[in-house]
Amino acid sequence: MNQDPIIQIRDLYKSFGPIDVLKGIDLDVPGSQCAVVLGGSGSGKSVLIKTIVGLLKADRGTIKVLGERIDLLEGDELDKLRLSIGFLFQSGALFDSMTVSENLMFFLERHLKLPLAEATDRILETLEWVGLPEKLHDYPASLSGGQKKRIALARSVIMAPKILLYDEPTTGLDPVSVRLIADLIVRLQVERGLSSIAITHDLLCAEIIADTVHFLHEGRFIISGSLEEISRFDHPAIVTFFGNETTLTS
Ligand SMILES: Nc1ncnc2c1ncn2[C@@H]1O[C@H](COP(=O)(O)OP(=O)(O)O)[C@@H](O)[C@H]1O
Ligand SMILES: [Mg+2]
Repeated sequence: MNQDPIIQIRDLYKSFGPIDVLKGIDLDVPGSQCAVVLGGSGSGKSVLIKTIVGLLKADRGTIKVLGERIDLLEGDELDKLRLSIGFLFQSGALFDSMTVSENLMFFLERHLKLPLAEATDRILETLEWVGLPEKLHDYPASLSGGQKKRIALARSVIMAPKILLYDEPTTGLDPVSVRLIADLIVRLQVERGLSSIAITHDLLCAEIIADTVHFLHEGRFIISGSLEEISRFDHPAIVTFFGNETTLTS
């Protein structure tokens, strides 16, 4: 087994003009593990995930993904490495004018040149995996919030990535839907060996999926550990965060 972390971040900095958002982030994500990043609104969680995938350029520091310096790659090389990274956006971002099947096909056609029969099989298989095969010909507008997220997750995994980055995968969902999504995220790690980083402020989700938790505050991880350890850490930002969130279940 490969001992090197799948994702390795060192001393990452990112500013927008006078606003310093990330100020020295270090993170290692080993194979088949999920690192959860918690933090208040506006703390830089989305900026972190966009920087990892190369949508934003780091000001300083290094980001290695599958042993390659993604922060140095451009053009075709960056596109190629990005194919091994699935990204579940905060908004879900399905095309409203296309059916579920067309949404998935659009993604497949754009990135992989599969024969039609194979692409169709893969779409069906992925929809079955998220438990929504009957939604094949439905439009996103007719789906519930939780179902939309599951379809968005299907779209992220249909390319068979090695890494998944989740930005608020369960925010705004009811607890039943949160569990459904969180269980799928765990299955991706256990059954397919995916490594992931999940940005969330949903403690139920974090509790189910996290191997390690990192709390982002003022541009740095002020503590890393288990969710339990983090929740007991005596820091005003943590007290505020946990005070405002739903309390831990079980
Ligand atoms: N493209 C951008 N240009 C300028 N400022 C940005 C940009 N993206 C994010 N920011 C700023 O970075 C900070 C962190 O944002 P974000 O990562 O979205 O927070 P969150 O932790 O809620 O996901 C905010 O102050 C936001 O206004
Ligand atoms: Mg965000």
